[in-house]
Amino acid sequence: MISLKGKDILHGNQFSKKDIDGIIKIASNFERELKKKDSLTLLKGKILATLFYEPSTRTRLSFEAAMQRLGGGVISMGSVESSSVAKGETLTDTVRTISQYADVIVIRHPRTGSAKEAADAVPIPVINAGDGTGQHPTQALLDIYTIHKELGSLKNLVVSMVGDLKNGRTVHALVELLSLYQARLYFVSPGALRMPEEIISNLKEKGIEIVETEDFMKAASESHLIYMTRIQKERFTDLSEYERVKGSYIVDGEFLKKLKKKITILHPLPRVDEITPEVDTYPGAAYFRQVRNGLFVRMALLSMIFGKR
Ligand code: NCD
Repeated sequence: MISLKGKDILHGNQFSKKDIDGIIKIASNFERELKKKDSLTLLKGKILATLFYEPSTRTRLSFEAAMQRLGGGVISMGSVESSSVAKGETLTDTVRTISQYADVIVIRHPRTGSAKEAADAVPIPVINAGDGTGQHPTQALLDIYTIHKELGSLKNLVVSMVGDLKNGRTVHALVELLSLYQARLYFVSPGALRMPEEIISNLKEKGIEIVETEDFMKAASESHLIYMTRIQKERFTDLSEYERVKGSYIVDGEFLKKLKKKITILHPLPRVDEITPEVDTYPGAAYFRQVRNGLFVRMALLSMIFGKR
């Protein structure tokens, strides 16, 4: 396994199968340890800084919780409006400043490539928590951890990815990891929200079998797993276009009845209307377990970055 000590986490393609095996093992150890104890002391004295230029609930709070459960401390820039970003400070100057106080930075920013830009500007590790429509590698790792737990294996998977495949950074990162396992992929989206051509051709070069379709029921009936995503309203320049495509694919009780088989349902959350609340009690609805898994996976990543695992 490649050591993550002192490394940045920027892109799904930086991980090998061996790395993922290691991360899964370490995360499940933390999952077990947290059943016995509320918190550990592994990262005592270390400080994590969160720097979020875009809204977040799960990603920021799970990183902060992970750091605190490991005995470390957390500082946060807070909202853009309340920081010097509002005065026009550049990203580079902001991260340079934060690197004087913290030992690791978790950043979310609307511009693709911004996390790499931040990482290049500072000597401490930077974790990409979402760079525009680019990547969200730690989400992909917690998704993989969840798939492994829910389905028992990562081999011979058939996965339907559904919704905004154009703008959704979680699917852009997750396909990188799934491609290591030769998963068969259905991309289900409205024509205007198709997976970017560059990602599709990269996957095809790796020998991944891909079917692009608008027929959700057919794709789901052939899949072990459906990965639902939110239509990313904030990425649309034309809101009438958003109105046209919103609600394109919805999982509700009726859909599951028609499907006539059990299926695992993941979603990075937040959801808008793509999964109705009645689905939450369905045994295959794994999205809140997925949220919990984010904590263990981020504990694993932080402990590895500091060379403690
Ligand atoms: C996602 C994101 O921010 O990319 N959320 C998350 O991190 N769990 C998905 C989304 O916003 O739709």
